[in-house]
Amino acid sequence: METYKKLLLANRAWVEEKLTIKKDFFEHQYPSQHPEFLWIGCADSRVAPNEITGTELGEMFVHRNIANLVIHTDFNLLSVLQYAVEALHIKHIIVCGHYGCGGVHNAMTHKNLGLLNKWLRYIKDVYRYHAAELDAIGDENARFDRLVELNVIEQCRNVAETSIVQKAWKREHFPYIHGWVYDLHTGLLKEIAMMRPDEDINDIYRFDFDNSEEEH
Ligand code: CO
Repeated sequence: METYKKLLLANRAWVEEKLTIKKDFFEHQYPSQHPEFLWIGCADSRVAPNEITGTELGEMFVHRNIANLVIHTDFNLLSVLQYAVEALHIKHIIVCGHYGCGGVHNAMTHKNLGLLNKWLRYIKDVYRYHAAELDAIGDENARFDRLVELNVIEQCRNVAETSIVQKAWKREHFPYIHGWVYDLHTGLLKEIAMMRPDEDINDIYRFDFDNSEEEH
């Protein structure tokens, strides 16, 4: 059997299972979504957000890219973030990296990966900000693990520094920003950072919202 067909068959079986448990399952899902969480994670196939967090359909708004980066010129991510914060009034944003991340690992090397160089460049920047700490770690695997963690922390800061989140913090005292790392060996999530709405961000990134402008 062509491998993709098993997905369509599995979908049929899944629908039947849902309907067996609840006859109006899909009608119930349809009208609107009210997720409480926004997940910003790696595209890695082993880090499937709903599965590892036990969340159901409708509970989590999801954005994924290589190495869970939050880049201020990425209109895809910014659109997701704006919609999640301003329309869905998300309460918690989770930036989730994972140990063994290929994107982070490649950024630690001198490999020329074409277009990917430009994406992974942002992780090289994270390395540069924390070079003193990272270069002091002799063991390469330990250094790799630490860069995964530092990358998550930096991406949390990037989320907090958007005008979208700054405005929401001022007006709604939400969302909280969480930095987590998933361990492929154990399946466990580790909390490594949390930013509350009263968190001080670096002053140079702070915007004034005294006027009723709606710019981003
Ligand atoms: Co990854």
